[in-house]
Amino acid sequence: MEVKRNVLLNPGPATTTDTVKFAQVVADICPREQEFGDVMEFVSKELTNFVGNNEEYTTVLFGGSGTAAVEAMLSSVVGEDTVVIINNGAYGKRMCEIAEAYGLKFIEFKSSTVDAIDYEKLEGVIKNSPDKISHLAVIHHETTTGLLNDVARLGQLCKKHNIDLIVDAMSSYAGIPIDMKKMNITYLASSSNKCIQGMAGVSFVIANLEALLKTKELKPRNVYLNLFKQYEYFIKNYQMRFTPPVQILYALKQAIVEAKEETIEKRHERYVRSCDTLLAGLDRLGLVHLVKEENHSKLITSIIEPKVEGYSFDAMHDYLYERGFTIYPGKVSDADTFRIANIGQIDYKDMEGFLAALEAYLKTINYI
Ligand SMILES: Cc1ncc(COP(=O)(O)O)c(C=O)c1O
Repeated sequence: MEVKRNVLLNPGPATTTDTVKFAQVVADICPREQEFGDVMEFVSKELTNFVGNNEEYTTVLFGGSGTAAVEAMLSSVVGEDTVVIINNGAYGKRMCEIAEAYGLKFIEFKSSTVDAIDYEKLEGVIKNSPDKISHLAVIHHETTTGLLNDVARLGQLCKKHNIDLIVDAMSSYAGIPIDMKKMNITYLASSSNKCIQGMAGVSFVIANLEALLKTKELKPRNVYLNLFKQYEYFIKNYQMRFTPPVQILYALKQAIVEAKEETIEKRHERYVRSCDTLLAGLDRLGLVHLVKEENHSKLITSIIEPKVEGYSFDAMHDYLYERGFTIYPGKVSDADTFRIANIGQIDYKDMEGFLAALEAYLKTINYI
């Protein structure tokens, strides 16, 4: 069977291979069977392998979208001490909302949505806090703008001050090489439907095992999303505590096989080539993007909307959608932007196709 191929340029769920799509079509199975436990063991161990070793790190799976993993992480590992949360976009802000909802002690460190973090200022906040800082939380790749935070540098800062680093790597995991040990990341969250190129429905936390085991002492703040309890149950027989999204896990297994075949380094190179193609095309079309090269992830690009009468995001979206390209609105409040992501099973040739369609649209409104 042929499946229509859409080029998704929204920041996930991303374009998938047909083999990942078809991996969902399997015989019905009770998820409590050993056979399905083998699938989850494979998924959990291999997700860890992309960023660390299975002796010191472990992957805890949840049924739920990415926010579930972020919420599980924050609510389950921060005790009575304070977490500093870096807010330089919508997802950093969401971490603050989660901390607020759970009544965590937290300091919001606001930072530019387009420029690098002021690391000295951040260190000052950590040093001068009257309360003990136990954790620092950050978004690796702020999907809001395409801003990439320097997690390795934050890891060094955490080492110096004996703080555990919590990273939301939703839209960078499997798209940008990450080494949790080298970067000194204690907890990392991501989901099945972005750079790992699976279907939406599973999210996961990869944790330093030693740190995770210590969280056993903390009073649980929730049930479904409790990280330690989910780990404790999972590790006994590779079962989730609650009903897992069975077919999504089969698709994730296939996505992992394909990521291993490609390698994360080569996937990153493919993504960067698509982005470089996009940036050259934008330049040619006279469009400007928001984040400077040194802070740009090269996975998502925020583009300033054309200032011309007749332009409308919705009309541009529909024009491109009819031609097989899905684009996404912007998310920063202080600039009119739209976003183009280049994650998923697409390459620079798709980007050339997109640029040709964009050029044709811009001609219809006399922008060029
Ligand atoms: C950095 C980041 N964190 C969290 C999320 C939330 O993920 P979800 O919408 O799957 O809950 C996203 C989604 O795009 C994201 O990019």
